Amino acid sequence: MDKLEVAIFPVGGVGTRFLPATKNMPKEMMPLLNRPLIQWGVEEAVNSGCTNVIIVTGEGKEAIKAHFSRSFELEAFLTAHGKEKYREIVSSIPALARFSFAKQPQPLGLGHAVLCAERLCKERPFALLLPDDVMLADKPVTAQLEAVRQKYGGSAIALQKVSDEDTQRYGVVDAEEIEPGVYKIKSLVEKPKAGTAPSNFAVMGRYVLSPAIFRYLRSLQPGAGGEYQLTDAINAMLAEEPAYGVIYEGKRLDCGITEGWLKANLQLALHDTGMREAALEVLKEENII
Ligand code: G1P
Repeated sequence: MDKLEVAIFPVGGVGTRFLPATKNMPKEMMPLLNRPLIQWGVEEAVNSGCTNVIIVTGEGKEAIKAHFSRSFELEAFLTAHGKEKYREIVSSIPALARFSFAKQPQPLGLGHAVLCAERLCKERPFALLLPDDVMLADKPVTAQLEAVRQKYGGSAIALQKVSDEDTQRYGVVDAEEIEPGVYKIKSLVEKPKAGTAPSNFAVMGRYVLSPAIFRYLRSLQPGAGGEYQLTDAINAMLAEEPAYGVIYEGKRLDCGITEGWLKANLQLALHDTGMREAALEVLKEENII
C-alpha cells in the first residue's frame, strides 16, 4: 500500500468569529501559546510521516505562505544580535516539510477546497487536517488513522462521540464496530437535522483519504448549507471502497470558536513547563485557586 506522504490543509474560511483580530490576519495565524494554529496541525502531519504539505488558501492568506517560507532578513537580524536560539526556531519552520499552495478562488465548501488540491496531490493518498481542530495526543491522531488505513485499506476518519444536541454541528456516521474503537462506515450525513442523526459518532477534523475521493468530488452537487460537502463525496465513495471511523486517543481542542481558543491556550499553558507558573499566577490573583 502507498505510504502516506501528503497532507492537505484547507484555509479558506473568513474567520468571522475572531473579528476584529482577523480583519487583516488569517484566523489560522491566531497564536496558540507561541505558535500559530496552523503550525500545530502541520507538526502533527510531519510527526505522522508526511513530507509534503499542500495548503489550500482563499483570499488574504499571504501571511500563511510567508510563515512557511524562509525569512532571510529576520534570520540575519537574529544572528547579528546573538539570538541563535530564535534564529534556529525561525529557520526550522520552512524545513518542516515541502510546502506548496493551491488557490481556492471562492469559499464553496470543504469538498471544493480539497478538490482544489488535486493537481498537487496527484494520485496519492493524503491526510486532511482542519486547522481549527488542534489535537493533543501521545501518538498523533493522523498517525492513528494511518495505522488503521494500513491495516484495512480504503480511508480512515477520526470520530468522537458527541451529545444528541451536538450531532447537527458535524458530519455523522452510521457504522459498525469491527474491533475496539474501529468502525466500518455504512453511510455519512453532513449536519443532520436535530433528531435525525444515524448515531452519536461525529467526524472530527482529521482524515486519511484514498485518492479515489477526487473522482467523487468532481461530480459533487451542493449539499448542506449550499456548500460542496466532503462528507457527501465520502458517502458516495463507499459504493466503491471502504472507509473506517476511528475513535482516536487524545483530546480535541476546538479552536474554531473564541471560547474554545481561549480554553486551549489556558489548558496548554497549564501543561507547559515554561508557562505554567504564569497561568497559575492569574488564577491565584483572581482568587480562583
Ligand atoms: C467540517 C466537516 C464536518 C466535520 C467538522 C469537524 O464542518 O464538514 O463533517 O464534522 O468539520 O470539525 P465545519 O466545521 O467546517 O462546518
